[in-house]
Amino acid sequence: MPDYDVVLADVCKTYPGDTRAVIDFNASIERGSFVAMLGPSGCGKTTTLRMIGGLEEVTTGKIYLSGQDVTDLPPSQRDTSMMFQSFALFPHRTVLQNVEFSLKMRGIESTERRRQAQDMIALVGLTELADRHPRDLSGGQQQRVALGRALISRPTVLLLDEPLGSLDYSLRQTMMVELKKIQQEIGITFIMVTHSQQEALSMADSVIVMSDAVIQQTGTSREINEMPRTRFVAEFIGNNNLFDGILTSLSGSIALIEHGDSMFYVSIPDGQHHHSIGSSVSLCVRADWVVTGHHPDMANRIDATYVATEYLGSLETDVFEFAPKHYIQVEQHRDSRNQVYKVGEKETLCWSAASAVLLD
Ligand SMILES: Nc1ncnc2c1ncn2[C@@H]1O[C@H](COP(=O)(O)OP(=O)(O)OP(=O)(O)O)[C@@H](O)[C@H]1O
Ligand SMILES: [Mg+2]
Repeated sequence: MPDYDVVLADVCKTYPGDTRAVIDFNASIERGSFVAMLGPSGCGKTTTLRMIGGLEEVTTGKIYLSGQDVTDLPPSQRDTSMMFQSFALFPHRTVLQNVEFSLKMRGIESTERRRQAQDMIALVGLTELADRHPRDLSGGQQQRVALGRALISRPTVLLLDEPLGSLDYSLRQTMMVELKKIQQEIGITFIMVTHSQQEALSMADSVIVMSDAVIQQTGTSREINEMPRTRFVAEFIGNNNLFDGILTSLSGSIALIEHGDSMFYVSIPDGQHHHSIGSSVSLCVRADWVVTGHHPDMANRIDATYVATEYLGSLETDVFEFAPKHYIQVEQHRDSRNQVYKVGEKETLCWSAASAVLLD
């Protein structure tokens, strides 16, 4: 039985005016893990984080921290610390004074306070800047002050709301690595809210994907990426190609889905078959699992028309039209062997049954 730090059991939040911000949220978060809550704007991420920290009351349901029911406890009696997106640093205090603030509030005497704050400043890599004021720091440095300030009270759980949201692209890449490294060094549980799939998938041990107040899927980055369970997750994460059709037969672990003249084969992992013959279903296949040309070893084959190519560094995505306005993306590394297509050119696209996923 794993050691859970944070458990949310059937948590719901309805704001005055009947806005249902969070519906039936269930999660068990293991001690020392890095969890990301991922979803579009307004789906209830911040509300969930604030309920864990006690800054927002739950409407129904229970929250447990280290096995203790904290549902009705105020923030000061929960072993959590929150890092806000705006950082909310004190402008008139130095880095050191910002970091030691919560120790001062708890009446820890000044030599001890200094010592702990200096250790924390070293951990977040700001020793040289300890006497500066926030306005004289870059965005990434301010972010590290905020992190140090949130961690100094040694919470069991650190709650981070879009911690990298205001940083530019390259700084965000660096801070992603640093945040993960610090989390592993101190070994406390991090729950991070983000709407960036890249941040969630690259940093978190476990990802909770939300939309419209409900959890769509919980899993490791790999599971979310390779085995999306719902149409929403398939569309929100990665370059997935979606197809709809009717489930016409099942033989062994292979499902046959028909759409007009097209037939699609999907392998279904054991115990994951919840569909009945004749029902409407959706399936998806990742853009990097579709290949161009004839591949007799692959069960799925369609004919499509070349439309455009999108470039992203060494990766290129060729876009084909399969049916009117139904585009298929094929992601491949750019190299000299890649064919250069002319708009309107016909091409055959293939993928194996095992690389397709039937959605719930
Ligand atoms: N204090 C409030 N009173 C009423 N409704 C609220 C309040 N706070 C949030 N909401 C609503 O609850 C829903 C969820 O809001 P929440 O802030 O949790 O979303 P979010 O996922 O964090 O979005 P974002 O990515 O934009 O920060 C939204 O529809 C929002 O308008
Ligand atoms: Mg938010």
